[in-house]
Amino acid sequence: MSLTPPGRFISLEGLDGAGKSTHLAWLTGQLAARGIDHLVTREPGGTPLGEKLRELLLHEAMHLETEALLMFAVRREHLAQVIEPALAQGRWVICDRFTDATYAYQVGGRGLDLTKFAALEQWVQGREGGLLQPDLTLLFDVPLEVSRARLAGARELDRFEREQDAFFERVRAAYHARAQASGGRLRVLDASQSVAQVQADLAAVLAELGVA
Ligand code: TYD
Repeated sequence: MSLTPPGRFISLEGLDGAGKSTHLAWLTGQLAARGIDHLVTREPGGTPLGEKLRELLLHEAMHLETEALLMFAVRREHLAQVIEPALAQGRWVICDRFTDATYAYQVGGRGLDLTKFAALEQWVQGREGGLLQPDLTLLFDVPLEVSRARLAGARELDRFEREQDAFFERVRAAYHARAQASGGRLRVLDASQSVAQVQADLAAVLAELGVA
């Protein structure tokens, strides 16, 4: 259910190295070219407090449940300070990762108990009438080898990027399961294709949103 009119809330997801940043830049360029007022933000992060917590999340060893709870704490602040005010003003919100990442990385990757997450999600995103979540989530899907190859030689890897292959296989499988159960909210894009082909696929999704 969409609780976010009149703005649109779009999140981007995928394995590390899927090419999210490149496609995010192209997508926001398309919105800007059409004069669509939008805000670009990210998780974990998006607020001054959230960005401080991001540093800890990416680089500081911590209990796995602390990690999960901090992801939702960052999200609570982000919704209150940034996302909900922007949507209320009718702006589009383009968010680099949101709750699907928590289900993929903390539940799928880390193996934490799914049932606890529904309660956290309800706490943080529960609004009168249902859950506040993206209207659309673009899932940039790549096989693990592609993700690994793109990360190789990149800047210093963070705590997540240094995980083993099996971790990322679980993350990817969790994303696919989320997509299947999402009733069309998550759109899987084959991000192993050329950048131009992924952009063509994205253009088709934008056209469905009335951005042509
Ligand atoms: P990422 O978008 O990959 O940042 P960058 O492109 O700058 O490396 O996000 C950082 C990491 O955070 C990524 O490895 C996934 C992880 N993450 C979670 O584990 N759970 C979450 O809920 C979110 C939002 C991110």
